[in-house]
Amino acid sequence: MSRIHDALKRAEQERATSTGTHVEPVVDQPLAVADNMPTLQPAGASQMPNLASGLNYESLLARCPQCEWAPDARTMLFFQGDESRTGAEEFRTLRSRLYQIREKLPLKRLLVTSALPKEGKSFVAANLAQVMVRQHGRRALVIDADLRNPGMHRHFGAAQTPGLTEYLLGECDEFAVVQRGSMENLFFVAAGRAVPSAQELLANGRLKLFLQRLEPLFDWIVLDSSPVIPVSDATLVAGACDGILMVVRANVTPSDLAKRAREEFPDKLLLGVVLNGAPLGKLESKYYYGEAVTSPA
Ligand SMILES: Nc1ncnc2c1ncn2[C@@H]1O[C@H](COP(=O)(O)OP(=O)(O)OP(=O)(O)O)[C@@H](O)[C@H]1O
Ligand SMILES: [Mg+2]
Repeated sequence: MSRIHDALKRAEQERATSTGTHVEPVVDQPLAVADNMPTLQPAGASQMPNLASGLNYESLLARCPQCEWAPDARTMLFFQGDESRTGAEEFRTLRSRLYQIREKLPLKRLLVTSALPKEGKSFVAANLAQVMVRQHGRRALVIDADLRNPGMHRHFGAAQTPGLTEYLLGECDEFAVVQRGSMENLFFVAAGRAVPSAQELLANGRLKLFLQRLEPLFDWIVLDSSPVIPVSDATLVAGACDGILMVVRANVTPSDLAKRAREEFPDKLLLGVVLNGAPLGKLESKYYYGEAVTSPA
């Protein structure tokens, strides 16, 4: 029997022993070549993804690393147990709107993106995941899919590696890359080590597989991404998501660039705009297009 056949069979067996969730074969399949041919392999990536066997919520809790996070107290709004901090109410409003949308369409994997760097994508994604788990029993996973300029681990005060890059390269399984810290039901996947081939990695089909395998374990999966205008990585991530939130930084993002970024995505995926850093008391005039939720500086 060929090595290719062996590899496929092993992967199939691993899938069968996991959660019972059907996994579509979205990964790059090896080419069906004659038995004596060498197996084709993209540079820098192993042949098959590294799939954890027996993946379910209980096994994840037992096996994923419990980490000492040191969340940035200035920007991580919900770690101190103070529900009245500036901005907390806006995140609760955002949560309500997302639940309203979810009544009408399937929504679990959310991409948070923006036109330009430093508009608050990571801030919004991290706080959104936190506010989701403030509701009893809700579980959220937040993923730093900004592989070029990883930053969310700094907001959480968490380790940068291993993370999504290592998973997409086939070096680590899900148990190794999902971290949990001090907030119950909140899980985090850091970006991992910086690599020059972010675009190739995000396009290799394994992100979709990763999300398919973890989706049954969580109520929400929030993905942070790179900005849209300089690079196209966010559009690749969007292909694996159910909906997109565009962050616009009040009085900073030029409106033409916000519109250009918005045009990169299909209308049906765009859920709305989060206006970040809006001056308090002047929120009512700050609506752009679609739904907007404001987040004060
Ligand atoms: N509403 C806010 N109030 C206070 N500080 C904020 C707010 N939003 C963002 N910041 C701060 O602005 C900076 C940029 O935010 P953030 O890292 O979330 O942006 P980003 O869009 O993810 O940037 P990048 O494109 O570089 O990843 C950070 O220092 C963050 O703490
Ligand atoms: Mg960021």
